[in-house]
Amino acid sequence: MTNQHQVKVELAERRYDILIGRNLVSDIGERARALNIRTAFIVTDTNVGALYRAQVTSSLEKAGTHVSVLTLAAGEATKSFEQLERILDAALDAKIERGDCLIALGGGVIGDLTGFAAAILRRGVRFIQIPTSLLAQVDSSVGGKTGINARHGKNLIGAFHQPSLVIADTALIDTLPVREIKAGYAEIVKYGLINDAHFFNWCEKNVHDIFEGGPTREEAVAYSCRAKAAIVGRDEREDGERALLNLGHTFGHALERLTHYDSSRLVHGEGVAIGLCLAFRFSADLGLCSMDDAQRVSHHLHSVGLPTQLADIPGGCGNADDLLEAMYQDKKVKAGALTFILAKGIGDSFIAENIDPAQVKQFLTHALSH
Ligand SMILES: NC(=O)c1ccc[n+]([C@@H]2O[C@H](COP(=O)([O-])OP(=O)(O)OC[C@H]3O[C@@H](n4cnc5c(N)ncnc54)[C@H](O)[C@@H]3O)[C@@H](O)[C@H]2O)c1
Ligand SMILES: [Zn+2]
Repeated sequence: MTNQHQVKVELAERRYDILIGRNLVSDIGERARALNIRTAFIVTDTNVGALYRAQVTSSLEKAGTHVSVLTLAAGEATKSFEQLERILDAALDAKIERGDCLIALGGGVIGDLTGFAAAILRRGVRFIQIPTSLLAQVDSSVGGKTGINARHGKNLIGAFHQPSLVIADTALIDTLPVREIKAGYAEIVKYGLINDAHFFNWCEKNVHDIFEGGPTREEAVAYSCRAKAAIVGRDEREDGERALLNLGHTFGHALERLTHYDSSRLVHGEGVAIGLCLAFRFSADLGLCSMDDAQRVSHHLHSVGLPTQLADIPGGCGNADDLLEAMYQDKKVKAGALTFILAKGIGDSFIAENIDPAQVKQFLTHALSH
């Protein structure tokens, strides 16, 4: 039985659908035709391209769409100016015009980069997301944040540019390395921790089936997309509530930076897993949330094999000053003060502005010694 879900992202004239289910990519041609797309430019990476590029291209061509493909190296380093320029040049060579469409076929790296290229090519062309990693299906393909990394830090250059359609084919996760499934799972758990204790309970009970695949995985993806779409629908540009989605990310981004985006040491979702645990432990230290809740979060993430503490990072991550400095490079710094997402408990997170750096340093010094 196929279990198909549709989530609507309600953004007035920029509204779009997220389709979730197994084997959806074989219909991409029909979907593109329904959106009146005659010419498509696919961007993918070496891993995903080798597995799925032929299937996607042939579906599009059968539906009468003219297709070009650019395959980039897999990995976070691809979210760069250099690769952005490659896409823009190649898309212009392929005569992509305003009414045409870029298609991101890959994980969050390809999605963020291709979305940004679509935002600036000819002042904006349409794009379709075909997220192929669990992380991209539950998070990065939804909500329209696109961008690249700068020398100064992650995602510092980018644009809001909503896709025209997101196709989350959960069968593609079958070829995803288990380490990447775990990384995506950290972002799923995040939605429960933000504002939905019931969903966190559900994750604790269903984690095995989510990893195995089948209808439970589809449900987890659909639930996550719905949770993100609801927040984005209320606050597209992160003037307020959307910042909650950064739970775990102020710590996580600093860790990615200090490990030089080296995926052999830490991938984004792993940084988020440690970041979620630190955010809860810091909240407990500040007397905001119970230590029991903080331990429950760590315990659950640890039980699926995710890193949960700084000591879990191979090669370490510097000292408390290095961490604090890396956090200051993050976008979530307002007029020099750190903004954190902290929690009063599982499912009860909030935006905490003006956090005293001395308190953060004390917490980190302690966290580094454990
Ligand atoms: N825009 C947003 O709102 C948002 C949100 C969260 C994360 N992100 C960004 O997303 C990026 C991380 O995304 P990611 O975890 O998908 O990383 P990724 O794109 O590097 O993919 C992870 C790895 O899995 C491989 N892969 C992907 N799909 C596969 C499949 N179906 N089969 C086999 N291999 C496959 C990739 O080639 C890569 O090696 C980060 O740059 C992060 O900043 C953006
Ligand atoms: Zn993330």
